[in-house]
Amino acid sequence: MNPLAQQLNETLATECPNVYDMLSALGKAIYFPKEGILSQSAEAKAKAKKFNATIGIAIENGQPMHLKVIQDTLSSYDPKDIYEYAPPAGKPELRAAWRTKMIKENPSLEGKNFSNPVATNALTHGLSIVADLFADVGDAVIIPNKNWENYELTFGIRRGAQIVEYPLYNEDNRFNSAGLREALLSQKDKGKAIVVLNFPNNPTGYSPDPQEGDEIVAAIHDAAEAGVNVVAVTDDAYFGLFFEDSMHESLFGKLADLHPRVLAIKVDGATKEEYVWGFRVGFITFASTSDKVLAALEQKTMGIIRATISSGPHPSQTFVLRALQSPEFDEQKAEKYDVMKQRANKVKSLLDSGRYGEVWSYYPFNSGYFMCLKLNGVSAEAVRTRLLDEYGIGTIALGETDLRVAFSCIEEPNLEELFDTIYKAVTELIG
Ligand SMILES: Cc1ncc(COP(=O)(O)O)c(C=O)c1O
Repeated sequence: MNPLAQQLNETLATECPNVYDMLSALGKAIYFPKEGILSQSAEAKAKAKKFNATIGIAIENGQPMHLKVIQDTLSSYDPKDIYEYAPPAGKPELRAAWRTKMIKENPSLEGKNFSNPVATNALTHGLSIVADLFADVGDAVIIPNKNWENYELTFGIRRGAQIVEYPLYNEDNRFNSAGLREALLSQKDKGKAIVVLNFPNNPTGYSPDPQEGDEIVAAIHDAAEAGVNVVAVTDDAYFGLFFEDSMHESLFGKLADLHPRVLAIKVDGATKEEYVWGFRVGFITFASTSDKVLAALEQKTMGIIRATISSGPHPSQTFVLRALQSPEFDEQKAEKYDVMKQRANKVKSLLDSGRYGEVWSYYPFNSGYFMCLKLNGVSAEAVRTRLLDEYGIGTIALGETDLRVAFSCIEEPNLEELFDTIYKAVTELIG
């Protein structure tokens, strides 16, 4: 094993043996090269005042070389904020700004010890880093039965982890924390589990209320007490889009110092929150009472980044940073939140109006981009294809009964026609 990896592992094993035990084989082996090109170049950037011939970029007239055809379209940005490589962990100012935003939006983080967010190539990449660091073949990844399909690829196919599902809702149509607890305790023999908590949930648009949030935390605590090392990941892709009286913050805050056997990791980003899907800017943040543990995990995260993408895109990190620093940011975000909330409210009022009879029910939703219909007596795939072929309407069929509708994509005045047409397609198929 590389001595640097060994050093990081020793730190983790001394400071928090449970976290060391959570690491995958790759997680144990990975390290960020201290004396490699990047660190020598960083040192030169600070000290080489005469000539800096360290890194594989090009300099002209004292700034990064660039083509006019590109710079003309980006003229409000300084070439140094666009063309140079961003550091592997992301632009420091962006990381600091995201941390400040996180604290402002999550009061439960008050007094908790957590790392500086490391910038990722958006949330999928953050999840993939979690998988690389912590998932070995056969490790359990616990997710609800209504989930984002990409977990299967990220944890299951790519890392060979075993996906363990529990029903998202209980018989009262509330979050099924008993199911989560059972799934966690079923890993007692292995002594390890990775839990992915995604609220607002894709595909249902569900977020837990404060009591359900406490139950989730209690289930994880119980598993830890029973001897399970829990990597507790919050996938906060749709953070902030809370339209009703659910929790309005991430469970990361409550998980941060829950138990020595719980490692809380927050995966979030600008993708959905800031409506910049194609920018590919996300973050991964670790919580630990030990700063040494945080530093070691950050080094390992940087090692994975260096080994896979080397560094994230600099222009989009700069774009997001400028947005976060803009005095108009909060106001513009609030405007978009209102638009999304009005769409969610409209969907709910249509569904509750009684006009669609018994052809479907809907899963409880209160947040995010989506809602899911549960169809009665007709297959979701049949409805999806009929909507597409006869009416030019695109929806997502999930399993036998569920139809996911991204109301985020439909202007409010069109929602009535959308749901009336889905109803029409369903009744035609039943008829
Ligand atoms: C729950 C969830 N997590 C993560 C992602 C991925 O986000 P990104 O586009 O930032 O990789 C998505 C995107 O659909 C999602 O729905």
